[in-house]
Amino acid sequence: MNLTRMVAHCRNFLRPALNPGDLAVDLTAGAGQDTLFLYQCVGPGGCVLAFDIQAEALGRAMALLTKAGIPVTSLHPADGTRRRGVQLIGDDHRNLDKYLWGSPRGVVANLGYLPGGDPSITTSIQSTLQALTRSCERLAAGGRVAVVVYPGHPGGAEEAEAVTNLFSALPARTWQVLQLQAMNRRQAPFLLMAAKKEDKRALP
Ligand SMILES: C[S@@+](CC[C@H](N)C(=O)[O-])C[C@H]1O[C@@H](n2cnc3c(N)ncnc32)[C@H](O)[C@@H]1O
Repeated sequence: MNLTRMVAHCRNFLRPALNPGDLAVDLTAGAGQDTLFLYQCVGPGGCVLAFDIQAEALGRAMALLTKAGIPVTSLHPADGTRRRGVQLIGDDHRNLDKYLWGSPRGVVANLGYLPGGDPSITTSIQSTLQALTRSCERLAAGGRVAVVVYPGHPGGAEEAEAVTNLFSALPARTWQVLQLQAMNRRQAPFLLMAAKKEDKRALP
């Protein structure tokens, strides 16, 4: 078992927060693996909103999900309707609010570039911070946000620092925040995890 594979830890962190019928968000759909995982957690009665700015990524995600027999639609801006299945959204995740019709129980962001795609198209600091800030604000009580961060590509170290600062600043009264990383590999991907408290009382 590869203990440094952050995607596996990311899913293990998100899984307990997600129940059948929930709303979940994939801020970076890419090839669709994380979207597929979220759908498997929320089931046919739930909904996954999955964002990507690249047509190639949306096509790959669509193919993966369709092959798995999952209902996929392209989503229009939220009209208040509760929806089901996966909704692939060809828009910048900074526009999350336009599409979110409820409080998600789980949000994932796998940063960086599409594996096997154009490595110059990466997530960017401003969009990432905006999307994660709104995700944290809109997250349901008891919900979880997980971000896999890749400091190794051009611009990645700056984005890693900005996202780490954002998570570090989440108030401890409302959030439990963790970081997981391989200590003996320079510039290795790492995982940031934030769990929102269940109820309104502060953590002890
Ligand atoms: C590492 S890949 C995601 C991998 C994916 N979660 C999976 O399971 O295959 C990062 C993706 O983020 C997308 N991306 C970059 N900037 C974005 C933005 N501002 N909004 C939405 N998606 C973005 C890229 O196009 C790329 O497909």
